[in-house]
Amino acid sequence: MADLLKGKKGIIFGALNDKSIAWKTAEAAVREGAEIVLTNTAMALRLGTINALSEKCKAPVIVADATSVTDLEALVDETMVHFEGKFDFVLHSVGMSPNIRKSIPYESLNYDFMNKTLDISAISFHKLLSVLYAKDALKDNGSVVALSYIAADRAVAGYSDMADAKALLQSVTRNFGTIYGRRNRVRINTVSQSPTMTSAGSGIAGMDKMFDYADRLSPLGNASADDCADYIVTLFSDYTRAITMQNLYNDGGFSSMITSSEIL
Ligand SMILES: NC(=O)c1ccc[n+]([C@@H]2O[C@H](COP(=O)([O-])OP(=O)(O)OC[C@H]3O[C@@H](n4cnc5c(N)ncnc54)[C@H](O)[C@@H]3O)[C@@H](O)[C@H]2O)c1
Repeated sequence: MADLLKGKKGIIFGALNDKSIAWKTAEAAVREGAEIVLTNTAMALRLGTINALSEKCKAPVIVADATSVTDLEALVDETMVHFEGKFDFVLHSVGMSPNIRKSIPYESLNYDFMNKTLDISAISFHKLLSVLYAKDALKDNGSVVALSYIAADRAVAGYSDMADAKALLQSVTRNFGTIYGRRNRVRINTVSQSPTMTSAGSGIAGMDKMFDYADRLSPLGNASADDCADYIVTLFSDYTRAITMQNLYNDGGFSSMITSSEIL
């Protein structure tokens, strides 16, 4: 505990259960002195355990579908009422592919599903930033982080249209970063996380093998959800106020490797 976020306030999207990267980040942010608002879909509230996190973090839960601009507007309005003004940070930890859920291979994607994948996992980030910007909801030097994966940059078997969504997410990060940085010095980054055994992660075909492969190839082994949470906290803190429009790897060194004696 270093009080890295003392006095800071923010919204955390995407805590479904205690495996979620967002859950760990909520705990880490509160541990570091932040006040938070939690948000997820109505379905996630029914299927998951976010109310336990809400109690632990003394944080209200505001239901919002990240693909709905109306929901996002209401969420930001309610958050500003709760915090009595602007806030400092937002975590977008949201992703879902109906094509992956239904095991449809990449070469024969269902395009209605693909539109959903892109909307939930990437366009929602543009919608969120657009609402925050229009409402001037973030304080100067605020920080916004979304979660990415190396399949945005390199081909990864089984990641299907989520790879396209992550590439779009990283592009939105760069493009909105230029706009929000100039007006409010708000920084926008993605963290590219190691394979992690969460609800979303476990849904990917071959995840067990990919997890094991990445763990053996990475000199530091896979980064855990707790490692990711600690890294995100630094990105919300004042110690990273000149870092923006980056895709930052939290992956134990995986992205710099091609092979190693451990996997040959
Ligand atoms: N698990 C991994 O291996 C891994 C690796 C790199 C990046 N990521 C990314 O991390 C992020 C968080 O995923 P996770 O691994 O913690 O899994 P998770 O299943 O715990 O979290 C995904 C969250 O997205 C939410 N969500 C889905 N549709 C939504 C919508 N329309 N509106 C609002 N929320 C919605 C879900 O309710 C859930 O809380 C995702 O962006 C994921 O792609 C995960």
